[in-house]
Amino acid sequence: MISEIKNNVLYVDGCNTIELAEKYGTPLYVYSENAIVKECRKLQECFLNKYENTRAAYAAKAFSCIAMCRIIEREGLCLDVVSGGELFTAIRAGFPAERIEFNGNNKLKEELELAIDYGIGRIIVDGLQELNLIESICRQKNKTMDVLYRITPGVDSHTHNYITTGKKDSKFGIPLDDDVIYPAVEAAINSSYVNFKGIHFHVGSQLFDNKSHLLALETVLQLVKNIKERFNYDVTELNVGGGFGVTYTDEKQKSYEYFLDPIMERIIEFSQKMNIKRPAVVIEPGRSVVAEAGVTLYKVGSIKDIKGIRKYVSVDGGMTDNIRPALYQAAYRGALANKMNEPADHTITVCGKCCESGDILIKDGQFAEAQAGDILVIFTTGAYGYSMASNYNKNPVPAVVLVKDGKSTEIIRRQSYEDIISRESTEELW
Ligand code: LLP
Repeated sequence: MISEIKNNVLYVDGCNTIELAEKYGTPLYVYSENAIVKECRKLQECFLNKYENTRAAYAAKAFSCIAMCRIIEREGLCLDVVSGGELFTAIRAGFPAERIEFNGNNKLKEELELAIDYGIGRIIVDGLQELNLIESICRQKNKTMDVLYRITPGVDSHTHNYITTGKKDSKFGIPLDDDVIYPAVEAAINSSYVNFKGIHFHVGSQLFDNKSHLLALETVLQLVKNIKERFNYDVTELNVGGGFGVTYTDEKQKSYEYFLDPIMERIIEFSQKMNIKRPAVVIEPGRSVVAEAGVTLYKVGSIKDIKGIRKYVSVDGGMTDNIRPALYQAAYRGALANKMNEPADHTITVCGKCCESGDILIKDGQFAEAQAGDILVIFTTGAYGYSMASNYNKNPVPAVVLVKDGKSTEIIRRQSYEDIISRESTEELW
């Protein structure tokens, strides 16, 4: 995060957070453009410029909006989308079609049609049934599509159960049973409507150990070898997914090099041994690109000190703008943005305003003494915060402000109550 403290107040990318809270209201998501750009350039430096024939497709699910698509496009990355909505956002942003890749375990016909009409770069196909659907759409439209197969590598990445995706028992990817994977590969190789490029895997999210990626890679390289032997077909692309962990509290973040250098070394070694051209290598980072670039600002409201038990400090948002603590027991760091130099010697539990006991944002965190009206900041909320926001209890989704070198601009406006009910019928019933 690009931040500093001046006169007891937190500044993000040159902007006074108390003034941002006043100007745009709270809760408020604040993203530093310089911090996002810095992450994109890290990817350039440690991966894209270091190894030729590579791509980094930012996983839009972490945080997607038109402004974000424009930053990603300007920084030269590709975009990984997983729904018609994310694709539509990218199209509206004018994101170059050939740099879009489409993932998902149940892509709808309409979503695939939109993708094929726009002429996106890749579809990561989740099974033979989907391949057949893509072929039928391409046949009708007289188009072809470049595809990869997502396989289930059978690796347990030991992250939270809800965000591990590579285990054999998974709704994602094609299981590596001979009678499932090879007929699917053969159909793709022989198809006149798709170009079979290669294999994709994603082992899980918020990882700090490269073992899962490397184990999955071995499985995939064996598959590449088998495809060569069975069909005399050279796989030309490998997508190793995302999942690079970030620091929320005290996790020790690993560099991109830590994950990617051994992957690249192994792929280079394998290609030389097999005497094939090294396949293109694609990664799909989401969280690591935006998590640290974002903070959320809240206003402190009701404070309840349950003697000898716990002090609850309520804020004007909660699980509706950040579901991660309730859903994954995710831990965060916070502070009082107007009391940054005061000692954080009070143990408080920051809770939201939803009618749900699990609506706790930070359990037993260390803060300066909180009073109603203080601006409470939670750090590292840039990934999977806004993107997983909901209207539970009919709370409006907060605004998103982009800040850069002391300037601020609202990139998503706050929902109004009118917005929330705008699709509801006001007609008399029956
Ligand atoms: N590629 C694929 C195919 C994925 O399924 C995912 C994440 C990514 C890339 C990006 O992973 P990342 O680099 O962001 O870890 N809502 C959860 C995370 C779910 C991730 C799902 N897939 C959370 O808030 O922790």
